[in-house]
Amino acid sequence: MCGIIGITGKRPVYTLITDTLKRLEYRGYDSAGLATTSQGRIDLWRAQGKLHNLEALIARSHEPPPGTCGIGHTRWATHGRPTENNAHPHISDNVAVVHNGIIENFRTLKSQLEKKGVHFTSETDSEVIVHTIDHHLKQGDSPLRATQKTLACLEGAFAIVILFREHPTMLIGARRGSPLAIGISEDTEEMYLSSDAIALAPFTQKICYLEEGDHAVITPHQFTLYNANNKKVERAFTLTATSGAISGKGEFPHYMLKEIYEQPAVVGETLETFIDSLKRTITMPSIGTIFGQSTTCRLIACGTSYYAAQVARILLERYAHISVHCDYASEFRYRDPMLRDGQPCLFISQSGETADTLAAMRLVRQHKKGKKNPCIALVNVAESSLARESDHFIVTHAGPEIGVASTKAFTTQLAALSCLTLALADHRGTLPQATIQTLANALIEVPTRINQILKQADAIKDIAHDLAKAHHVMYLGRDSLYPIALEGALKLKEIAYIHAHAHAAGEMKHGPIALIDETMPSIILAPPSAVQVKTLSNMAEIASRGGPIILISDARAIKKSAPQHAFAMPEVHDFTNPILYTIPIQLLAYHTAVSLGTDVDQPKNLAKAVTVE
Ligand code: M6R
Repeated sequence: MCGIIGITGKRPVYTLITDTLKRLEYRGYDSAGLATTSQGRIDLWRAQGKLHNLEALIARSHEPPPGTCGIGHTRWATHGRPTENNAHPHISDNVAVVHNGIIENFRTLKSQLEKKGVHFTSETDSEVIVHTIDHHLKQGDSPLRATQKTLACLEGAFAIVILFREHPTMLIGARRGSPLAIGISEDTEEMYLSSDAIALAPFTQKICYLEEGDHAVITPHQFTLYNANNKKVERAFTLTATSGAISGKGEFPHYMLKEIYEQPAVVGETLETFIDSLKRTITMPSIGTIFGQSTTCRLIACGTSYYAAQVARILLERYAHISVHCDYASEFRYRDPMLRDGQPCLFISQSGETADTLAAMRLVRQHKKGKKNPCIALVNVAESSLARESDHFIVTHAGPEIGVASTKAFTTQLAALSCLTLALADHRGTLPQATIQTLANALIEVPTRINQILKQADAIKDIAHDLAKAHHVMYLGRDSLYPIALEGALKLKEIAYIHAHAHAAGEMKHGPIALIDETMPSIILAPPSAVQVKTLSNMAEIASRGGPIILISDARAIKKSAPQHAFAMPEVHDFTNPILYTIPIQLLAYHTAVSLGTDVDQPKNLAKAVTVE
């Protein structure tokens, strides 16, 4: 959840660190801090709140941090309130540490250290790392040995970077459960450690991801890697593809809006990788082999990615005749799931770093009974932990998503999952070739249709203006539009802070209808389909009880039902409706949030990559 960076080189690093933290701020923004070392001292700067508070603090100082080696952190609070004292780096006499993740046994370690006379100044779990290393240094251990001894007693999932007062060019980084990458810039004679390759993109494309349990010592010219057994190891460097991605918000006021408008392009790019546009055939190499004769599969994810899984369940069952079980990763990992022999498990995650999803995959990997369960990852980051630990991975081409609310990552997941459905329908012979071509054709049209919807976005602003007055909102949909209703409600909660809940439209009369009155708008997603008439009947039941309606549907249905507010959608094949109906619900949440003046890109209490449990 937190963003971490370490830089060692020949020039003062504090502005490089704050610039990097700007790119990492999407991971957490409760507080920020940095430390550099020079002339036998550690200079520490920390501020509560967003990064600009830290920048302002440094700007007011007469003596900015002089060191050419430093570490920085942007925090999403887990243990301890988001105060300056709890902000990272944490320091002791000899070391400063930035930490992402959770130290589960921190209470035990803290009380052992307190018995030795150590005084703690924060409420965080992270501070035990600092004092444990310091303790070993004071016993005469080298920085590497002190770090190794400390790592041996830490429990939990984490990535850390450590700065040493008496070694002003050296940093040590360690990874267990949370990602950490080394970057090398030969031009500037600098070496970096970061939780995120995106953050390093302006410096270098040459990246090496630490593997589970690895730790690394870096200086401006050198690095040495060690594995979990403290043995020196070699790891491959790759050229990361993220370098072109740091393009800012451009003409858009928020990343979220920019990312909504990128959808025609990125959904198109994702589809192009899987569809031969001339032959209208799907290419997903290896998927047939992985699925073999399996007639069932598991889909496991969190948050918005879980809603993508729910859409995929409907598509896979309908078109590929595969029986699908969807799970929240956080539930799956603790409930002794009954996996069938050889049943494929597909893990969906934009970041590929979500702690619960990763843990769920590891659980499947350890499942020893019967035939192995192949693990497939659907990720937006090819170098992510989930991709690297999977048997096979599929990549969406959304590009970096900076807005905390997932938009283009979701629609590209839906695009890839639609292609997966057709690939499996083809492999299993559940659809005639002509139907596969018709559905592939419908997918190819999606980017044009998204553009068509985006051109009418102004109509959504008026609806949003009214929606902003509501305190509770209900979303309804059926079939593959039910997960989109769930996604709509999540978006509204997440960025507009309005309480919203979604129901399968048919469930409304089993309880939620009791909530209907003139103060609670209902957003109805009702594309032309086999169940449209049913959804419109549910809408009529709400209207007759005085509930305001916002109908998102085709022009004909809107004309017939004359709701208070409506948004007309293009008529397309039902197969692609989940992707297209996502666009108005994203815009609705966005414009409602803007009307309310919330922090759209960095909503309160959230962070982009949820790398803690
Ligand atoms: O990176 P992941 O797709 O695994 O993330 C899962 C959720 O944390 C994420 O989708 C979250 O719900 C979004 N903020 C929703 O907009």
